[in-house]
Amino acid sequence: MNTCKKIIIAVDGFSSSGKSTMARRLAAVVGYRYIDSGAMYRAVTLYALDHGMIDDEGTPDTTAIIAALPQIHIDFSVQPGGSQHTMLNGTDVEKEIRRLRVSNAVSPVAAIPEVRHALVAMQKRMGESRGIVMDGRDIGTVVFPDAELKIFVNASAETRARRRFKELVEGGSQVSYEDVLANVVHRDHIDTTRAESPLRRADDAIALDNSAMNLEEQDAWLLDKFNKAVAR
Ligand code: DC
Repeated sequence: MNTCKKIIIAVDGFSSSGKSTMARRLAAVVGYRYIDSGAMYRAVTLYALDHGMIDDEGTPDTTAIIAALPQIHIDFSVQPGGSQHTMLNGTDVEKEIRRLRVSNAVSPVAAIPEVRHALVAMQKRMGESRGIVMDGRDIGTVVFPDAELKIFVNASAETRARRRFKELVEGGSQVSYEDVLANVVHRDHIDTTRAESPLRRADDAIALDNSAMNLEEQDAWLLDKFNKAVAR
């Protein structure tokens, strides 16, 4: 492996497709920085929920959220084991942003163009020193269109809902599988049909359907693609 050349790796895909797990694990193996861009949209959503900017129907007050953007500071803190926690205005919100309350409200917030512009600008800055793996929806298309390696991950809605359900239950949340599946399907719809940078595969992204892959197979598949991209 050529350890001198630092590349940018963009991992995009549908919600709960396992893209964060594979991106995080690759970053750890190759010694790159990992950024979960979805966590940034979740942090903005948490701020909006906590400041009464999203009504009971889940409709965001777009004007209020745009006005609040300068007051929303998002960062990542590295934990002793190497994992990263999302920080919102200095507070660790890693657990809070994963709850269904935030999952249910995040897609309309992520569809606000001004929110996207602010977060994309931050993400581009994070990639300036390269050696980064970032996952999201628009990383290969908008944030890093010149990334040396682009992956687009998918799995069936049922497979993804089962994974998210397991994660939530293990994290102590009391949710039903049906609610989680409905949330996955609903978010797919919003993410793919929004006007501003909808989720789509970049023309030069490598597609991966990991429905029938275990973690080790997925890791090996991605490391192989990484090694080839670095050698190019
Ligand atoms: O990956 P996730 O489920 O944590 O993402 C949360 C939401 O943020 C999801 O509705 C899609 C949106 N998102 C986005 O629009 N662009 C990104 N780069 C990352 C996430």
